[in-house]
Amino acid sequence: MDMQEFITNPDVEQYMYSMLPPRDPVLQEMEALAQKRNIPIIGPVVARILYQLVRLAKAKTIFEMGSAIGYSTIWLARAAGEGSTVYYTDSDPENARMAANNFERAGVRDRIQILTGDALEMLDRTLGIFDVVFCDVEKQDYPRVFHKAVPRIRKGGLLLADNVLWYGRITQPPQVQDEATRGIVEFNRLIYSSPELYPCILPVRDGFAVCEKL
Ligand SMILES: C[S@@+](CC[C@H](N)C(=O)[O-])C[C@H]1O[C@@H](n2cnc3c(N)ncnc32)[C@H](O)[C@@H]1O
Repeated sequence: MDMQEFITNPDVEQYMYSMLPPRDPVLQEMEALAQKRNIPIIGPVVARILYQLVRLAKAKTIFEMGSAIGYSTIWLARAAGEGSTVYYTDSDPENARMAANNFERAGVRDRIQILTGDALEMLDRTLGIFDVVFCDVEKQDYPRVFHKAVPRIRKGGLLLADNVLWYGRITQPPQVQDEATRGIVEFNRLIYSSPELYPCILPVRDGFAVCEKL
C-alpha cells in the first residue's frame, strides 16, 4: 500500500499500521496480493473500523457495493457472525471467482451471497432492508448509491463509504475536478444535507464516511 497517496501524514499512517495485530494467513495473503497487483482494498486500519461498526450496530444483513477480491467482505462477514448474510457485489467475474475461493478459506463462505454485475442494479434486484450498506464502487457513482441505498437501510443502521476525501482532490476548484472527484464531492454534500442521516467523515487513510440512518 502506497501510504504517500493518502491524506494522513505518512509517518502517522505508518505508525497506525505498525500497531495492528497480525491478520490470519488468508487476509495476509490478500493484502500481499492487493499490493502486488495494485488492487485498491481498504486495508487493515479501515477494515478494523468496518469490523467495529458492524459489531456495534449488531448488523446481520449487509450489502457491500464493490467488493473486489473480497477482503472487506471477509471483515464484514466475520464481524456480523454466524447466521448473518453479507452480499458481495463486483462487476468483474474474475474478482468474484477469487473472492469465492478466499471466502472458503476464511471460513465464511456460508454467510456470503456472491452477486456479479453492477452493484446498483444488484441492490435494486435484492429484496429487503439492510443493517449496513458499504459503498466502494466507482466514485462517480457515489451520488446514485446515496439515492438507492438510503431508503434500503433500517433506522439505526449505517451507510458507510470509503475514499470520501479522495486523495485530497475534494478541495480542488470545481472547474478542474474530474468525474470521480465531482461524484465524491456531491456524495459528501448529499450525506451532510440529508435529514435522514447523521454523517461523520473519519479522516483516516483516504477518508471514511460513517452515516447513521435516523
Ligand atoms: C475499491 S475496489 C473494492 C475493494 C473492496 N471493497 C475491499 O476493500 O476489499 C472497487 C471494486 O468495485 C468494482 N466496481 C466498481 N464499480 C462497480 C459497480 N458499479 N458495480 C459493481 N462493481 C463495481 C471494481 O471491479 C472493483 O473491484
